[in-house]
Amino acid sequence: MPVTVLVGMQWGDEGKGKVVDLLSEDKDIVARYQGGANAGHTVVIDGKKFVLHLIPSGILREGKICVIGSGVVVDPEALMTELEEVKKGGIDVEGRLIISPRAHCILPVHKIQDAANENKSSQQKIGTTGKGIGPTYSDKTARLGIPFFYFNDTAKLTAAVTALLETKNCLFEKFYESGSHSVEQVMEYLNRVAPGILPYIGDTRSLLRDAIIEGKEILCEGAQGTMLDIDYGSYPFVTSSNTISGGACTGLGISPRKVDKVIGVAKAYTTRVGEGPFPTELKDETGALIQEEGNEYGATTGRARRCGWFDTVVARYAVEINGIDEIVLTKLDVLDRLDVIKVCVGYEVDGRKIDRISDDISILERARPVYWEFDGWDEPTAGAQKPEDLPKRARQYVQFLEKSVGAPITIVSTGPGREAVIRL
Ligand code: IMP
Repeated sequence: MPVTVLVGMQWGDEGKGKVVDLLSEDKDIVARYQGGANAGHTVVIDGKKFVLHLIPSGILREGKICVIGSGVVVDPEALMTELEEVKKGGIDVEGRLIISPRAHCILPVHKIQDAANENKSSQQKIGTTGKGIGPTYSDKTARLGIPFFYFNDTAKLTAAVTALLETKNCLFEKFYESGSHSVEQVMEYLNRVAPGILPYIGDTRSLLRDAIIEGKEILCEGAQGTMLDIDYGSYPFVTSSNTISGGACTGLGISPRKVDKVIGVAKAYTTRVGEGPFPTELKDETGALIQEEGNEYGATTGRARRCGWFDTVVARYAVEINGIDEIVLTKLDVLDRLDVIKVCVGYEVDGRKIDRISDDISILERARPVYWEFDGWDEPTAGAQKPEDLPKRARQYVQFLEKSVGAPITIVSTGPGREAVIRL
C-alpha cells in the first residue's frame, strides 16, 4: 500500500497525531498536505508529551522523512519554534524535513488580519485559531501570496510584497481602521526568517514521485477534519483548505490514481472548537464530564472544546466523501465513566427524518438529532491493548458504530500513550 491518506472524520482533534505516530512505524515518508500551524497534534511517547502544529507527526519516528507539501501554509517563526522544541525533546531532524517551494508563507500581516477580522463586529465570527491561515490562503487564491520559491529572487519577492501591501493597507486603514505596514518592514521580516527556513525547501513533488516509483510507503497526514473542509464542511465555519482525502492529491502533487488506501480517524464522541453548528452538542454536565475526562482543550489555542455524542450522519458523510477504507476509533476510554451513552443515528429536519448529509449543509443548523441509547460498560477500557480486554458492551458500541457508519473499525485507541491501542 504505497500511498495511504489519513483524514479526520469530524471537526478535527480526532487524535490524528497519535495515529500518524502509530502508523508511521512502517512508513518511509509522512507528508502534510494542507493547513498550517492551526493544527495541534499531541503525541505521548514514554510519558513525554510532544505537541506538533506544523511538522508531520512522523518526525517523532527515527529516520522517517517528513514532507510539508504545496497545499500547506507555513509560518516560518512557528516552524522554527517547533523545530527547537522537537530537538529539545531529543529528536534528530537533520535531513528529515523537506518543505515545498510552492507552499505559501504566512506573514505577520496575515495574523493581524485574522485577528482583526474576528474582532470586527460586522464580520461573521468563525472562531479561528488566529494563526493567519484564512488570510494566507485568500491571498494565495487571489494570486497575491508569497510562495517560498519567490525567496530566491529578491526583485520578484519585493514586487510581490509591494502588490500585496497595496491591497492589504487599504483594508487595514479603511476597513479595520488600524495601522498600515511598509514594504521595508515586511522585507526586513522575510530577510530575518529566510536563513532559518530556506535549508528545508526542496522538491517535494519529485521526491514523492520517485518514492512512489520505488514502492516506498507514504502516509499523507491530513490536519483538521472533514467537517472543516472549505468546500464540503460546515461552511462558513470551516478552515480554508481541503481537509478531505482529495486534498492530499492537490496538496502534495500526487495523482489520485496513486492513492491506495484512505484511513479515517474518529473520536468515540464528537468535539468541535470555534463557532458553527454541532447537532449532537451537549451543553449539560455530561458534556462537561466528557470535556474533563477527554482533556478537551485545544492543543493550539487552549480553548475548551465543545463536546457531544458520536454522530453517525457526520461519520457516514466522511466515509463517503473521503472514500474511507478503515477507521481508527480514538478515546474510547473517555466514555468509561458514563452510565448511558447515546449515538446519533439520524436527524429530524423541518419535520423530515434524514440520515445523510446533502449539499444543503445549512440543514446542520436545524437538525435535531435522533439518538439510540446504550448502557455504559462496567469495566474500564483505559489502557486496554487486546480485543478480549474490551468489556462486552464497549465491544457492542464499537460494532454498532462500524455498522452504522459503513467502514470497519480496525484500531481502537484507549489512552494517550503509544501502547494504548487495540488492533481488531
Ligand atoms: P482557522 O483554521 O484558524 O482559520 O480556523 C477556522 C476554523 O477551524 C475554526 O473553527 C477553528 O477552531 C477550526 N480549526 C482549525 N484548526 C483546527 C484543528 O486543528 N482542530 C480543530 N479545529 C480547528
